[in-house]
Amino acid sequence: MDYKALIEEAIAAKEMAYVPYSHFRVGAALLTKSGKIYRGCNIENAAFTPTNCAERTAFFKAISEGEKEFKAIVVNGDADDYLFPCGVCRQVMVEFCDLKTFEVIVANNTEDYKVFTLEQLMPGVFNAEEMAKGQRL
Ligand code: THU
Repeated sequence: MDYKALIEEAIAAKEMAYVPYSHFRVGAALLTKSGKIYRGCNIENAAFTPTNCAERTAFFKAISEGEKEFKAIVVNGDADDYLFPCGVCRQVMVEFCDLKTFEVIVANNTEDYKVFTLEQLMPGVFNAEEMAKGQRL
C-alpha cells in the first residue's frame, strides 16, 4: 500500500485542528476499501468532554457519507514521537473494522512511520460478537 500519500493527507488534515485549549493538533486520514480518503482533525470544546479526536472525526465523516468498509488510518500529531490513537478511538475502530486486516499507521512523517493491525493495538475486544454470547435476563 502507498502509505506516503495517506500520511501526507493526515499531516494536511492537522491544519484544520480546532485546539484552543490543548494547542495540540492531531490529523488523521482514513482510507476506505474503495480507495476514498476521509480527513479528520481534533475538535475541542470549552466543556472538554465533547472534544472529538481526529480519528473519530474521520470515521464519523466517512460513516455519515455511507462508507462501511475501511482499509487503514494514518494518525499524525504535534508530538515528539509516534502518536497512538486513544482507547475511545480504538473502540470505534473495533466497531467498524476488521481486527486482522485493518491497519493503523502512526506516522511522524512520510519516511518515519509504524504499521500495526487493529488487533495488535486492541487485543481482547468487546464487540457485538462478544455481547451476543452473554446472558440475558
Ligand atoms: N487527540 C486526538 O485527536 N487523537 C488521539 O488519538 C489522542 C488525542 C486529541 C484530543 C485533544 O484535542 C488533544 O488531542 C489532547 O488530548
